[in-house]
Amino acid sequence: MIFGRAKSLDAILATAEKKSLTRSLGAFQLTMLGIGAVIGTGIFVLTAEAAQKAGPGMILSFVIAGCVCAVAALCYAEMAAMVPVSGSAYTYSYAVMGELIAWMVGWALILEYAVAAGAVSVGWSGYVVGLLEHTFAIDIPDMLTRGPYDGGVVNLPAMLIAGLVTWLLVIGTKESATVNAVLVAIKVSALSLFVVLALPVINMEKFTPFMPLGFSGVSAAAASIFFAYVGFDAVSTAAEETKNPQRNMPIGLIGSLGICTIFYMLVATGVIGTVGAQPVAGPAGEVLAPGSTALSQQCAALAAAGTQAVTCSKEALAWTLREIGWPQIGNLLGLAAGLALPSVILMMMFGQTRIFFVMSRDGLLPSVFSKVHPTYKTPYVITILTGIFVALFAAFFPVGILADISNSGTLFAFAAVSIAVMVLRRTDPDRRRPFRTPAVMITAPISILGCVYLFFSLGNETKLMFLGWAVVGLIVYFLYGYRKSHVGRGLVATHEGDADIPPQPVPPMPGAPTPGGKDA
Ligand code: ALA
Repeated sequence: MIFGRAKSLDAILATAEKKSLTRSLGAFQLTMLGIGAVIGTGIFVLTAEAAQKAGPGMILSFVIAGCVCAVAALCYAEMAAMVPVSGSAYTYSYAVMGELIAWMVGWALILEYAVAAGAVSVGWSGYVVGLLEHTFAIDIPDMLTRGPYDGGVVNLPAMLIAGLVTWLLVIGTKESATVNAVLVAIKVSALSLFVVLALPVINMEKFTPFMPLGFSGVSAAAASIFFAYVGFDAVSTAAEETKNPQRNMPIGLIGSLGICTIFYMLVATGVIGTVGAQPVAGPAGEVLAPGSTALSQQCAALAAAGTQAVTCSKEALAWTLREIGWPQIGNLLGLAAGLALPSVILMMMFGQTRIFFVMSRDGLLPSVFSKVHPTYKTPYVITILTGIFVALFAAFFPVGILADISNSGTLFAFAAVSIAVMVLRRTDPDRRRPFRTPAVMITAPISILGCVYLFFSLGNETKLMFLGWAVVGLIVYFLYGYRKSHVGRGLVATHEGDADIPPQPVPPMPGAPTPGGKDA
């Protein structure tokens, strides 16, 4: 086992038997949760960023990112069905590759979930601000609706929605899942309406030049638009709250991803074929980065001259509908996004809190994190803490930067799961696998290569951010988790029963470290 400390799969599975969260979710609800987590800012907002990076070639970007997610999903599904407990990639890595890798994966998942929740909050803000402007002629000053990188001071609407979702999560999973199902229906209807109105009027000439910035532009857009697919794995973090997870988890994961992919292909075709998707260039014809001040200024100059481009819009799909003669439906789509994007934030924050919950239960984070609310039975302390951070990300950063940072963490986690699934086939071939990844020795390496390719297609600042985050994670681990870890202290066998009950020591294994002090 790499790096010594690992949890046995049997101990992890025992967790599921004596879990402290209630099993209430079925296959349909899981698929709904998956769609709730997946369709969101990626398609509603980042389509504009992808167009700025790739032009009409972004349709290939959607295909590339979708393919990487599909193979990763097949690996996830095997692990999720075999180890149906909370914690997702973190838990699988703990069993297969040891504590240090698990910690790093859990640390990267903070980027995936919390930063993504911030990104979606910013996306939501773009639609709601646009809706208020177009429907009620309420013009909120940019300084209150954009972060400092985007020509404003603070994004108040984004902060507000992050706070609201935090409250929903604190009052309980069941209520949240029901609200989520209604919002998913709204979101799917809105995208269907978009497709029905846009596809009949597409003009094939809009698809040329197809790759104005070459294939590197398509790769860069794929790395960003990957965000549109992120979230299906959040389904696996709900495994501990799922009825018959052996059957329902693979259905939830693969079903939600398949449905979303179809929608993305159709919507991207609708945008490109109607309003065009050529990148906006600077005054000297130079390529402008999405989310940059230079692009904002160029967009302002275009607007002043009476021309507009989808790449300038913060509400790409609503804008497209207004442009092709459906202003009221455009507003309606804005309303749908405003109502439905919170379901994505909800799933992201749900995933984050459950991972923190499990990491805390393992002793890698302070035990106060896994405190369950006496009435609502939710991990309220960590939910509120997560909510505060999400609100801060949302307040001060633009959507594209947050999405790219989130992608870096997600790609790391996906690669880790793909490695874990192969390792486990070798080290534990006889364990019951309710779902087997087809041709795993081909599928998993493709997934790993795909993740590496997309990671290196991200911008340099994003890669550096990820590296910095990983270094901080290592420092935190060696200062805290390494000493407090329940596995390291020999407490793992009995600590799973109830998150509220502090772990009981078991006789240490020969050579195991002596249990340390109380958790902070
Ligand atoms: N896939 C999610 C979205 O696009 C995170 O908003």
